Amino acid sequence: SDSYSLLILPGDGIGREVMAEVRKVIDWLGANRGLTFRVEEGLVGGASYDAHGTPLTDEVMARAQAVDAVLLGAVGGPAYDDLDFSVKPERGLLRLRKEMDLFANLRPAQCFDALADFSSLKREVVAGLDILIVRELTSGVYFGEPRGIHADDNNPDNEGGRVGVNTQRYTSGEIRRVARAAFELAKKRGNRVCSMEKANVMESGILWREEVQWVHDNEYPEVELSHMYADNGAMQLVRRPQQFDVIVTDNLFGDILSDAAAMLTGSLGMLPSASLGAPMANGRPKALYEPVHGSAPDIAGQGKANPIACILSFAMCLRYSFDRAAEADAIEAAVERVLADGVRTADLMGPDGGTAVTTGQMGDRIVAALAAA
Ligand code: NAD
Ligand code: IPM
Ligand code: MN
Repeated sequence: SDSYSLLILPGDGIGREVMAEVRKVIDWLGANRGLTFRVEEGLVGGASYDAHGTPLTDEVMARAQAVDAVLLGAVGGPAYDDLDFSVKPERGLLRLRKEMDLFANLRPAQCFDALADFSSLKREVVAGLDILIVRELTSGVYFGEPRGIHADDNNPDNEGGRVGVNTQRYTSGEIRRVARAAFELAKKRGNRVCSMEKANVMESGILWREEVQWVHDNEYPEVELSHMYADNGAMQLVRRPQQFDVIVTDNLFGDILSDAAAMLTGSLGMLPSASLGAPMANGRPKALYEPVHGSAPDIAGQGKANPIACILSFAMCLRYSFDRAAEADAIEAAVERVLADGVRTADLMGPDGGTAVTTGQMGDRIVAALAAA
């Protein structure tokens, strides 16, 4: 039997609640599919700040580098809003992404048939939706220098006297590697890539467009490539999302567009993600898997969180880190069956009046569906 090492970082708020449900799935696979994981847990975000005064210790960072894959819940919360920027929970997550060099963030948005009436858009717009946003994750305005807040000393006309600075910066190499990831993924799907930037107002956007086109022309001429300004892209995602197959875009546009795409599927609680780096010596990419949603302070501790995004993130882990497509398919099918049976967490209580269940009950139902398959 195969054995993989996993570092689980539940984080804060509902991150802890949804990760408990992933543990049920992991345990079931171990007991029934001979797929065993050496699971370690660690702290990240506010939980790490509370224990160690930092949102990510060097020790947890080193463990993340050493394991086969990292699973993360979510970080952040109002208790940490007033902390110094350098120790905010979100910094822990950003450090993991940056130091593991997880440049390709895969955010699929699939509309399960049972949820087609739950989207805020009409059923016919979203039914059957299956798109993949590939978000650049280690560069752009999230990391560009210079950055900071400083005094605007020599400018008497600036009321308040301060400046906030962030820098959108991309190298051609950073753009080419994420473009390659998008083209490779497109080849296994609908063979179409739409690249989004704002080349009409940003030089980094011009470079983005040119480099994506270069990778296409030199390495993937057989994949269909189109370009779109990101603002139009946001509108098109809502107008007719099924025109897209793979979307490749920068760090900030990808963050925003993927939250928008979430509502095409019915709930932010449905969207998984995989953050991948370059292949290591063993052929596997460095990888971190996490739901797209955050720690949801408004519902934390109430058993209301939808664990599906986190469970589907673990399915992506099986697929992309461990080549266990059969088990990943089985988990996705189990989720689909449970939804088809009308089992709903609170975020999915909508038009069909399904049965309201807690986070824990949803996890149990998914495991039961796995067992019944
Ligand atoms: P959020 O994603 O936590 O919540 C947005 C809304 O969606 C809330 O109403 C929430 O109740 C709902 N929601 C989210 N996930 C859900 C789920 N699984 N089931 C049911 N409902 C769900 O975003 P926010 O409120 O803007 O941010 C809260 C905190 O989370 C902030 O500190 C933010 O920085 C952090 N955050 C972390 C991550 C991450 O760890 N990857 C992602 C986004 C936000
Ligand atoms: C996400 C989140 C993060 C981001 C935050 C929490 C740092 O919104 O993963 O989508 O902005 O990347
Ligand atoms: Mn986000």
